[in-house]
Amino acid sequence: MNARPRFNAREDMLGRLRNRKPATALERDFYTSPDDFQVDLDMIWYRDWLFAGHDCEVSKPGDYLTVQIGQYPVVVVRDRDGGLRAFHNSCRHRGSRICSEEHGKAARLVCPYHQWTYSLDGRLLAARDMGDTFDKGLYGLKPVHCTSVGGYIWVCVADVAPDFEPVRKHLEPYFLPHKLHETKVALEMTIVENANWKLVWENNRECYHCAANHPELIRTFPEDPTITGVDGGYSNPMIAAKWARWESIGLPSKFQLSADGQYRTARYPLIEGTTCYTMDGKAAVSRPLADSVTEPDIGTLLLFHFPTTWNHVLADHAITFRVLPLTATTTQLTTKWLVHKDAVEGVDYDIKRLTEVWIATNDEDRRVCQENQIGVNSPAYAPAPYSAIQEGGVTQFVDWYATHLEQRLTEALA
Ligand code: FES
Ligand SMILES: [Fe+2]
Repeated sequence: MNARPRFNAREDMLGRLRNRKPATALERDFYTSPDDFQVDLDMIWYRDWLFAGHDCEVSKPGDYLTVQIGQYPVVVVRDRDGGLRAFHNSCRHRGSRICSEEHGKAARLVCPYHQWTYSLDGRLLAARDMGDTFDKGLYGLKPVHCTSVGGYIWVCVADVAPDFEPVRKHLEPYFLPHKLHETKVALEMTIVENANWKLVWENNRECYHCAANHPELIRTFPEDPTITGVDGGYSNPMIAAKWARWESIGLPSKFQLSADGQYRTARYPLIEGTTCYTMDGKAAVSRPLADSVTEPDIGTLLLFHFPTTWNHVLADHAITFRVLPLTATTTQLTTKWLVHKDAVEGVDYDIKRLTEVWIATNDEDRRVCQENQIGVNSPAYAPAPYSAIQEGGVTQFVDWYATHLEQRLTEALA
């Protein structure tokens, strides 16, 4: 990709953000330039809380999962006392990555290079032949901020993490009833989309493209822009009636957007007569996701949290998505299908039936995002306005991105 040579990428980007037109797509470099991508990493991905995985994936002491955040390999581990910890997955000897698998289990974290050995709380326990003066106490694994809420694990690689408490307070009431920490991953799938991470998000935040591109999804997912948009659906009496019903059975449902626009929760009905993203709209899993939520029609609880995750929680399963940026024009998307921890494949659910709609949908989205990237790469590309009717969610995402980045750049350049 030809990046325009710049004296200072941060100042240049700040200038473009300040001059950007409202409710209009971003200029080409935001989606194509490796310099802009590095600024995105430095100012957003290396500073914000990011969704890493689920509590249920690391439920026992020694269970770990790994995640690559830009240049930072990170390992999240359940320690001996049941606490969650995250570390930079980089050995304190000569820097080798310690855990290379996406998931694993270990009593201790042993570096494969020269076998320096760390406890699950990050202390260096053993380092062979380092001499009498070597102080093991100085070479523990470097910690990464880590917390969890409602079954979702979050990490932040910044020295000082943003306050997580507002996120916790917002998410907890919506997610606790669904007991995601008592689920299991029925399937995990990772794909790479040849598109900038913001194009992946823009595509997610509208259903303007759904009718022409998602024949499987639109059997059950309403194309109503109220649902992808950020007006909330308060004016829709059908949605209001559903919210009243679901809230009466202990399921917080109303649309709620954080003050800074970074995250949103809302529960919305699927197309009348359907309860699940299957080809026939009927449940995919015979056992409810949570024992305590047995009502079969609870629509879909939607969460997005920029920049890493969008989610759907249904009565019988949940689908979670994790976005990670790889390069200026490549993005990794990991999808997980969660079911009750005791649900049995082949008995309570058929894996193909459970996953086929979103496998197809992801592939369709991959294709549209890649075509979007190819077109945006063209020097002839010029930003155009978003549809006020259909692309309110895209406008909101881009506004969040631009405001957030402008604020961080202004502070960094002061
Ligand atoms: S780099 Fe890890 S033990 Fe040498
Ligand atoms: Fe899509």
